[in-house]
Amino acid sequence: MDRRKFLASVGGATALAAMSASEKADALEQAMSEELDSIVVKPQLCTTYGQEGPPIQRGIKRDKYFMMGHDPRLPRMSDKPTLIEFYKKRFGSVQHMLQSARLARINGLPEKTVLACLLHDISVGGLIRMDHGYWGAQLVAPYVDEEIAWAIKYHQSLRFYADPDVGYEYPEAYIRYFGPDFVPEPYVAADAEYARNHKWYMTARQITINDVYSFDPNVTVEIEDFEDIIGRHFRQPEEGLGYDNSPSAHMWRTMIFPNNFL
Ligand SMILES: [Fe+2]
Ligand SMILES: [Fe+2]
Repeated sequence: MDRRKFLASVGGATALAAMSASEKADALEQAMSEELDSIVVKPQLCTTYGQEGPPIQRGIKRDKYFMMGHDPRLPRMSDKPTLIEFYKKRFGSVQHMLQSARLARINGLPEKTVLACLLHDISVGGLIRMDHGYWGAQLVAPYVDEEIAWAIKYHQSLRFYADPDVGYEYPEAYIRYFGPDFVPEPYVAADAEYARNHKWYMTARQITINDVYSFDPNVTVEIEDFEDIIGRHFRQPEEGLGYDNSPSAHMWRTMIFPNNFL
């Protein structure tokens, strides 16, 4: 969008400079929404029983329709979207997943495990953070080997539990993120315990071992570096992700049209 218009919308350059990075992102999103000729309504995940600030005033912008269809603010997805297209046009945290897969490949892990590392956080990057292992596993389950989806599901809980025998320590980053006294919910503990005794434990554990947050700044990894592995182990539907009527097609469609009113 036009820089001058954006600056005016936030009250000028000085006001913008005083904002935090997330405030700037919110302000930009707000300004882009206002410029859009349709109304964007973000889904409300739960009620806060009256604690949620003033209600949206209905009828203010009756010159606009609600957002439906391709959001012009986002890169347009093709009619038959591929997994690689989602990496390029929809997912965030892409370098994190690519670097994790790169490390898994350097460590000589099987292709299936490399693909699990490549896919492990796609829910964080494209759909939802909460329980991202579970959502991510469901997203890919129709298209990958059962072991890959299983490993993605359980990497989330196993991340919270060290296994020094295989060289995995509790992430130092989690102490910074959640505080030194954080204790995972009981369902997380139960799922980690279940996973630990499962025949595919090491596949999920390898995701956590190769889950890198400290990137090599001198290396840029591209999704195309994994085109061969994706081709061999991800069953790309002919109709395109989102349009193949699979059990998770609606989840892919949600990422294609994230701001649709309904
Ligand atoms: Fe994760
Ligand atoms: Fe991760």
